[in-house]
Amino acid sequence: MACTKFLTLNNGEKMPVIGIGTWQASDEEIETAIDVALSAGYRHIDTAPVYGNEKAIGRVLKRWLDAGKVKREDLYIVTKLPPIANRPHEVEPTIKQSLADLQLDYVDMYLVHTPFTLFINPDGSFQFDDEGRVKVDKSTDHAAIWAEMEKLVENGLAKSIGVSNFSKEQVARLLKNCKIRPATNQIEHHVYLQQRDLVDFCKAENIAITAYSPLGSKGIAKFNAAAGVERDLPDLMDIPEVKQIAEAHKKTPAQVLLRWIIDTGVVAIPKSTNEARLKQNLDVFDFQLSAEEVAKLCALDKNIRICDFSFFRGVEQHPEFTFKNQFTN
Ligand code: A2P
Repeated sequence: MACTKFLTLNNGEKMPVIGIGTWQASDEEIETAIDVALSAGYRHIDTAPVYGNEKAIGRVLKRWLDAGKVKREDLYIVTKLPPIANRPHEVEPTIKQSLADLQLDYVDMYLVHTPFTLFINPDGSFQFDDEGRVKVDKSTDHAAIWAEMEKLVENGLAKSIGVSNFSKEQVARLLKNCKIRPATNQIEHHVYLQQRDLVDFCKAENIAITAYSPLGSKGIAKFNAAAGVERDLPDLMDIPEVKQIAEAHKKTPAQVLLRWIIDTGVVAIPKSTNEARLKQNLDVFDFQLSAEEVAKLCALDKNIRICDFSFFRGVEQHPEFTFKNQFTN
């Protein structure tokens, strides 16, 4: 079942409303998963240099394109300018590295991954201060970075450009200075973190929302633990209201969570490396939620941010970091 539903962006480009998220998947896992995903009908793939899997994704894409199993114009590939390269002079060389790794001439969407910037050592490792906190580069200038992002559209390296993890104020500031408006803001968005104010603002400004962690990103627990962050995370697929709606439609909780997102005009990029779950996440177009069910799901909002970047201990020192909570300091 191919994803044949698209959201038309503010530049006329069409983005498939379901994509595959690829964070926290090893090279081996991702090569198999992308192969399965393309066979299942996924055309939208979301990656980033910080996920460390662009080369593996590029190998699968090359195989599919060379074999004529898919046309480049039917793929929708998203990658991002990482926080370690969030500086104007690094925009072009960084996308060129991603393109080389993905074995592509252009990406469909290039995003500023985070509003903050981190320092790295020449060997690529993060810089830390004496207290073990990541060193932040406070000179981040969104307007100057954005001017370089705009050149990527002009020179054909990216069809669309956007941002990720930007707050309403950060998007509003960008809009004052831009020639090309961001096409999307990719943010954490699910029933427990609906960010209505930000979502409504972006929609009113004709900036599409892409929802990451739409299923609650259970895999982040491992990542947090490795960084010494101790935190219990909610299981969105175990929420009684979600389970009850799923049962009523003979669908799974994950499918209900995804359907709620796309029904509200938002793009979702669930991550899975499991064949059955990958297929399940795309099989969300044969049922509809009632207005009452949508309202029930909207009422679940608890402002619980799962991806709060607490795994970058010290990131809260950056002036553009806006996700401060009890786990980040
Ligand atoms: P797996 O890759 O083993 O399927 P998110 O997209 O919110 O980051 O969530 C991804 C997490 O949810 C991963 O741990 C993934 O595990 C799991 N997951 C993805 N799809 C489903 C599904 N349909 N049902 C249950 N868990 C899922």
